[in-house]
Amino acid sequence: MTLEEKLGQLAQYGGAGTRIDPKHRAWIREGRVGSFLSVYGAALTRELQTIAVEESRLGIPLLFAYDVIHGFRTTFPVPLAEAASFSPELAGEAARVAAIEAAAAGIHWTFAPMVDVARDARWGRVVEGAGEDPYLGAVMAAARVRGFQGRDVAAPDALLACAKHFAAYGAAEGGRDYNTADISEATLRDVYLPPFRAAVDAGVASFMSSFNEIAGVPSTANRRLLTAILRGEWQFDGLVVSDWSSVGELVAHGFAGDRAHAGRLALAAGTDIDMASGIYGADLIADARAGRLSAAVIDRAVRRVLRAKERAGLFDDPYRHSDAERERRVTLTTAHREAARRVARESIVLLGNRGGLLPLSPAISTLAVIGPLADDREASLGPWSMRGEPKDAVTVLDGIRRALPRARVLYQRGVPVEGKDPAGLAAAVRLARRAEVVVLVVGESHRMSGEARSRSSIALPGEQAELARRVIAANPRTAVLLMNGRPLAIPELAAAAPALVETWFLGVETGNAVADVLFAAHNPSGKLPVSFPAATGQAPTYYNHKSTGRPAVATEEWSSKYFDAPIEPVFPFGHGLSYTRFDYRDLRVSPAEVDASGTAVVEFELANVGDRAGLEVAQLYARDPVGSTTRPVQELKGFARVALAPRERRRVRIELPAAMFAFYGEDGRRAVEPGEIRVQVGSSSSDIRLRGAFHIVGPRTPAPDRVLFSAARADEIGGAGGDKAGGTGGSAVVGAQRRQ
Ligand code: GLC
Repeated sequence: MTLEEKLGQLAQYGGAGTRIDPKHRAWIREGRVGSFLSVYGAALTRELQTIAVEESRLGIPLLFAYDVIHGFRTTFPVPLAEAASFSPELAGEAARVAAIEAAAAGIHWTFAPMVDVARDARWGRVVEGAGEDPYLGAVMAAARVRGFQGRDVAAPDALLACAKHFAAYGAAEGGRDYNTADISEATLRDVYLPPFRAAVDAGVASFMSSFNEIAGVPSTANRRLLTAILRGEWQFDGLVVSDWSSVGELVAHGFAGDRAHAGRLALAAGTDIDMASGIYGADLIADARAGRLSAAVIDRAVRRVLRAKERAGLFDDPYRHSDAERERRVTLTTAHREAARRVARESIVLLGNRGGLLPLSPAISTLAVIGPLADDREASLGPWSMRGEPKDAVTVLDGIRRALPRARVLYQRGVPVEGKDPAGLAAAVRLARRAEVVVLVVGESHRMSGEARSRSSIALPGEQAELARRVIAANPRTAVLLMNGRPLAIPELAAAAPALVETWFLGVETGNAVADVLFAAHNPSGKLPVSFPAATGQAPTYYNHKSTGRPAVATEEWSSKYFDAPIEPVFPFGHGLSYTRFDYRDLRVSPAEVDASGTAVVEFELANVGDRAGLEVAQLYARDPVGSTTRPVQELKGFARVALAPRERRRVRIELPAAMFAFYGEDGRRAVEPGEIRVQVGSSSSDIRLRGAFHIVGPRTPAPDRVLFSAARADEIGGAGGDKAGGTGGSAVVGAQRRQ
């Protein structure tokens, strides 16, 4: 390979869907392009691949990448919604469908899953990840990687996955996108890295470096992150792509003096492909000739890119992903829509249901649907919906009308998402008065979350809070649905709404999934993957916080609380109600003592004590009350999704390896420390039903930097009569994660 051809493999250029910059065809022929992003369609990808393979000197195939974040044409719920299902199985299924559709359209590589832990609701990209918890984030990261890549990443319906944005992008100060992340080594290691490590263990093919710096070193040129940790400690053998122009942005960071310097730093640090800044493919040629860039560094990156192409099967058949007939056959099928509806249903979180307003009777004769988002097809798809088409979306209004074909379902927008409309407000209130029941939909537009969408206030935008106040006053039988891409500060609405349902952005089947829950075709089981602060000023708010020397207590004046706001979130991590009720009883933790290599077993009984079948995500939290460095007051260490028929009981068993309690200590080493471990089991991080403890004994024991998962199962105890809701007899499969 010539120097130009080598650097060409490291150059990635952006397209515009089914169009590319005319000059790029010549560049492909000259061997100056290794991959494209945002170029899709069987026809165009086949045409460009033919130029690369048939007309360039070496015939090296192109990689086509795209942001297949939550579906390709069949848009699934946004990742934050999917995380609320607490179902790695469903997340994997959604990624698999996305891969099948995208691969048929010529895509080889998706820039997903986004696995950034996000603790600050002001940050717009909360919507793209799995929320605030490292454990849930790791479970979802592994599941989505496996879903995208399938059993064989060279298969015609598989995508190379990409864990992004490495690393600590969600730790941006002020929740402001692209901002500085200044965190300790322990926080980096114990909070932000675990989902990335889980992605490596799941076999992820690539990483994307993040825009931000960590403590003065931008990730895209962070040798310790990209080489020492990723390739050294974790033995990752895939490739790293920069984020859009993040190589060039090293100059703006003040980390590089000019473009060529930026390119040298990024390539040497371990960023193999330069997305869109054009530096690797152009500015580095002179540097390489002048000896300012070693051939070994270039060759190392080229080998990684060629190995990724080989892994994707491109040297066997460069055209396997560009199949127009398959693209037509597998795109937006009924089966895919049904999968999207299933994932959407399971992602819905019932936040409040005073007086049992929900579920609604399907015999209603006049139902009012009010709110600007109820009839918004684009909002239904959410941000990063890419190839999703609004015309395909079933809105909340559509879904309710389909579910109640004989009822009068009347609609009023009320107010816009942003801005004012007094006339609309009055009309909405009049309609609310006339209807038997009101479904009010409020929240954010899909343009308010996602990249470069940080908000300085996380209150309901516009006049929607006033709309809600007036509609609820006009008709107390009002169910409020939220459509939003982040936690919202809605204390007044939470207090006033007779029923409150979190629906996020649920994708192409939004309306059908919402109707399934509103009219009880599906009993909601979602749980919040993020805490909902009581005020913007509380951000960042997360459940797994440190204690401090003066833990916040509302009645303690001299404690770590706000003078002018409550300290507790309005809705805590893990919160989610059901149309039935679950009872937790008879906790047993054994053995009382385990050494660092041992496993504690937590068992309890879970019963459905209501009259509807339902599914409970039983959560297991733990606390290490004393450590050589301080530990969080709570940490999710396992969960079990248990489907129960009315009056059915199951014995839940969760195995906790002691090594799950390893953390980075003062000496910068990861170890398991002796001492008490307090165990909490419950329906949310604050709804704790059972408490116990065990002890880790023996010396402080070094632990590998691995992500370990607890293993959960639920065994039948005794028939309860009635049909089993999802019970598989024996031990129902319940959110069990593979132990590494
Ligand atoms: C964007 C995003 C990244 C995305 C990339 C390509 O700036 O940060 O998540 O994959 O550019 O679209």
